[in-house]
Amino acid sequence: MQKIIILDFGSQTTQLIGRRVRELDTFCEILPYNKFPEDDPDVIGVILSGSPFSVYDPSAFKVNLDTIRGRYPILGICYGAQFMSHTLGGRVEPAPSREYGRQNLTTFETSNPLFKGFNQGSQVWMSHGDTITALPKGFKTIASTESVQNAAYQAEGEKLWGVQFHPEVFHSVQGSLLLKNFVVDICGSTQSWSAASFVDTTVAELKAQLGNDRVILGLSGGVDSSVAAVLLNRAIGDRLTCIFVDHGMLRKNEFTQVMEDYKVLGLNVIGVDASEKFFADLAGVTDPEQKRKIIGRDFVEVFNAEAKKITDARWLAQGTIYPDRIESLNITGKVIKSHHNVGGLPEEMHLQLCEPLKWLFKDEVRRVGRQLGMPEHLITRHPFPGPGLAVRILGDITPEKVRILQEADDIYIRGLREYKVKLSGEEARRVLAAGVPADMQDGTIEVSLYDQIWQAGAILLSTVRSVGVMGDERTYEHPVALRAVTSTDAMTADWAHLPYDFMARVSTDIINHVRGVNRVCYDISSKPPATIEWE
Ligand code: XMP
Repeated sequence: MQKIIILDFGSQTTQLIGRRVRELDTFCEILPYNKFPEDDPDVIGVILSGSPFSVYDPSAFKVNLDTIRGRYPILGICYGAQFMSHTLGGRVEPAPSREYGRQNLTTFETSNPLFKGFNQGSQVWMSHGDTITALPKGFKTIASTESVQNAAYQAEGEKLWGVQFHPEVFHSVQGSLLLKNFVVDICGSTQSWSAASFVDTTVAELKAQLGNDRVILGLSGGVDSSVAAVLLNRAIGDRLTCIFVDHGMLRKNEFTQVMEDYKVLGLNVIGVDASEKFFADLAGVTDPEQKRKIIGRDFVEVFNAEAKKITDARWLAQGTIYPDRIESLNITGKVIKSHHNVGGLPEEMHLQLCEPLKWLFKDEVRRVGRQLGMPEHLITRHPFPGPGLAVRILGDITPEKVRILQEADDIYIRGLREYKVKLSGEEARRVLAAGVPADMQDGTIEVSLYDQIWQAGAILLSTVRSVGVMGDERTYEHPVALRAVTSTDAMTADWAHLPYDFMARVSTDIINHVRGVNRVCYDISSKPPATIEWE
């Protein structure tokens, strides 16, 4: 299968380049800058990403361009463009001031295949400290902005381009067109990577790989593990056994509802209610990391005990997706939070790992789910952390606190699903591009607030109390914080600008109906510097 290789120099937007290429129905792999696959006949082109480094930084990432130059079409983006220019004899210097934000192309070479279909004055997004002041011999400028002379260049007579701006970000209005020009016209992609082709080839591969073997899979109720299960079920039917552990800190009624959904989908699922064990082990524990560690440990114990009963199992399947695996260049190397997923099965079980979604981005997983005929409410479900509401209750955890939070969260989430908004123009296009099913009528679509945001949830601030008054009674109870964020991959996130009338209604509903809560706040922090979850 044809593929584009994206060499990652550590930019925050490298994954976004990958998503844009996939949106062109073209397969791509993101690899660390120094891991170019020498002899892969499927490679049709190479993109060099941006980087937090300057080319002059002693720690800057460098590659030997000889391994790719002349063999494949190359597109360097930001640092990628500077690196090629610097290495091949041009000059890169610190810009008088950091170029950040929107700019317009004042000139561009209209006949250049990279700019086919571009409009005069097209808006691009810049974010760089250095700038290319002289190009290598034989290179020509093919686009400029008011302040950036070499906004784009090409090596004459060669399929080698560099752009100083970021075509992968939304604010480069014709960025996707530029990438299409490169990937489809220049590299020759046949655009045959689609959800349907993925399902067909993956089901066939799974049949061949698994034969008559039995497979175990840990379900979480989330979209990734659910889609993985349905895909495997299609390949091997009842030889897939799924295990769904209820740790007692799921959303209200979630365990029962999700078990119902799985049954309708024909999955062979063992549901394990282990909530008592989790509550007992968490009693009195207040430290966030310790809570996470206990839940991770208990989860593995409960899962293993069930898995061991399936004595003839040969494989452990997981819903791991591409962003979980990308060997990203973590410049700081610090752990912010320990995330727990299924893992640590006893070695004596000798299970092999099967990860059918390991090449997919989240929006592609959703498309595959739709292709498999899964219900929309399972596919569009927001991500939910493995430790569940435990990381949304400050301080120690008790069944009563979980109950209070479940009630508040349920009112909030139902409200988000019921509140519809009309979108048009760029906003509508963005929501549709993310795969949200909606009909466009007169240039407008109607979607729920729930479908417009990446993730939402309520947090019980149970270490805080405040005074209120209800009827004639003084109350002294806990606040609940509401969180809703927009994001593409949870690496960065912005708080969602929810309508005031919606917030007013939810706040009243929660305070009137949830005993133990007398105040509602809205979390207006972005990530970074905050994180999505509070713990
Ligand atoms: P943070 O809080 O780190 O969350 O900004 C980023 C994303 O990860 C989810 N999350 C988890 N997912 N196990 C998971 O499977 C975990 O332990 C876990 N902790 C956070 C979080 O909901 C958000 O989508």
